[in-house]
Amino acid sequence: QDPRVTFASDQLSLAREHRLVRDGGTRQDLGEKSNPLTRDIDQASAIGIVRMLQACDGQMFEEDTAVKYQRLLSKQVVQTLVEVAKRVELILKDPQDGLVVLSGCGTSGRIAFLVASRFSRRLKDVNQSSVYSYIIAGGDRALLSSQEAPEDDAKLGRLMLKEACEGKKRVVFIGVSCGLSAPFVAGQLDFCLRHPEVFTPVLVGFNPAHQARDEPIEGCTFTFRSVVQRMLELAQSQRAFIISPAVGPEAISGSSRMKGGSATKILLEVILSTAQAAAFSRAPLTETLRCGGRVCYLGWGTLAVLGLIDASECNPTFGAGEAQVGTSKNALHSTEMCLFLCVCLEDYEDIRGFIAGGYVELDNSEGPLTSLGPDFSISHEEFFRSVLPSLTDRDTVLLLYTHSDDLGEVAALARRVRERTSNLHAIYHRGGGDNAATDRQEVIDNLCSSALKISWPSPQTRISVHMQWELSTKLLLNAISTGGHVLKGKVYRNHMVDVQVTNSKLYRRAARLLQKLSGHPKSRCEEALLKAIYQSEQLTSAIPLSDVRAHTAAANHRSRVVPLALILLLTNCSLKEAESRLEQQPIIREVVVVCLS
Ligand code: F6P
Repeated sequence: QDPRVTFASDQLSLAREHRLVRDGGTRQDLGEKSNPLTRDIDQASAIGIVRMLQACDGQMFEEDTAVKYQRLLSKQVVQTLVEVAKRVELILKDPQDGLVVLSGCGTSGRIAFLVASRFSRRLKDVNQSSVYSYIIAGGDRALLSSQEAPEDDAKLGRLMLKEACEGKKRVVFIGVSCGLSAPFVAGQLDFCLRHPEVFTPVLVGFNPAHQARDEPIEGCTFTFRSVVQRMLELAQSQRAFIISPAVGPEAISGSSRMKGGSATKILLEVILSTAQAAAFSRAPLTETLRCGGRVCYLGWGTLAVLGLIDASECNPTFGAGEAQVGTSKNALHSTEMCLFLCVCLEDYEDIRGFIAGGYVELDNSEGPLTSLGPDFSISHEEFFRSVLPSLTDRDTVLLLYTHSDDLGEVAALARRVRERTSNLHAIYHRGGGDNAATDRQEVIDNLCSSALKISWPSPQTRISVHMQWELSTKLLLNAISTGGHVLKGKVYRNHMVDVQVTNSKLYRRAARLLQKLSGHPKSRCEEALLKAIYQSEQLTSAIPLSDVRAHTAAANHRSRVVPLALILLLTNCSLKEAESRLEQQPIIREVVVVCLS
């Protein structure tokens, strides 16, 4: 057996060992389906939410013998990962004129950034030339904030790829679109398919190929699905690759930042680590690697990047910008971990992430973005300057660090935060066999109200322990931010209804969601959506149904449009009444019950 196959399988199994649950759930593809495990998440307690999220994460690693869909651990998926790793390996061994590009929109692009940066750093550590590059729709500002409109722009995707690959003769392009839907990525894949002499296109997603989006893309003759079909043909001769295992539906329908993001991270890491191990490792690959108010994430290294990523997605997913959050907390215990959850009760500004070393540590290609506005200030110094002075017990601060960070610095920061709020918590990873508690760690423990310490066994490579730290941290942060917002009522059943409607995918998703939740026909649902967007009881002929671009532009200035439309559809009340009820009671299920009674 090819040692790469053993290595890649081991890496996948290693990821499985991070999972927070042992029990699985119903098998379904991701898509935008509703997960039966979370149908009543909007009425669950904090511990109930966490258990549901655990069960959903567990679905990622289920092995399905029923052959219907490929799964993360299916033989075919491992085989394709290895084939792609071989292409990357060739570029690593002969880096001149070669490039490996990871690209995506939203969280898919952020994970592409995280993985490309970390593996570039590893290459630098061993004095090898960097061959990895990332592209995120909307540029680096999208690393820290939602930029949905560029996701629709296939031409922009193509141009950004063309620019990144200028002068290169061999490029492995890995485009990620969890739902097989982003026109930005479709444009890039189409460009690769037109230039097979240079590009090997790889598509990563979590839907069966036949469910790829088939909606026309502005200014293009192709759809995402037609691109996938062309790739499937070339895949037979290994000139293109599609990796799209089912991981089960998201806990919050359509929230692909969660399982979609986690599974993307696992797949990209398996490809690059397999390639890197094969290209440079002196140790034989057959050795296995089995081993075992405000919410502020203050972190160090890549754990801090995960904090930034989690915070950046809270806006489109939950409309957190105008939400109200405060803090009370529950300590929750599971066999492997305990975590606390911020329950949103009072006013709050945001969930924000900060990283020690700011943009120097982030190491993004466009450099500091602080000129884009206060949300783009990400250093700890900036936290001290702009957040700490107004911090109170209503705010939650979460420290994210590992034993290899400067614990003196962590303790000093914890002391300063503790002077302002007792609501200080920590997620701390100890690893590599070095699990002894230090005096400094004890100081930090005493300052924190709760500390989740995760001890990892000695790893065989430094990179594998980093992957373990990161994935488990991602799952925890997703649970904290999602759970907090569910408890705040941003979710109707298990659908994120307070979604923004600022690009065509989100507009269509909103219309479909309204149809599904209200049972009304499409035209009536779109009408209700437009009434909410244009704040008009009666739609005039000046608002044509078909001009989606105009609608998404108008929706940019509105809040809570989908909840409003849903209330209109479910209760038949006027827009004015729906608005006023929603102002008094933000939990949509409650508003509907009140209106109907
Ligand atoms: O438009 C926002 C969004 O849905 C994000 O939640 C997500 O990370 C991004 O689009 C990318 O989606 P996909 O990976 O399916 O292209």
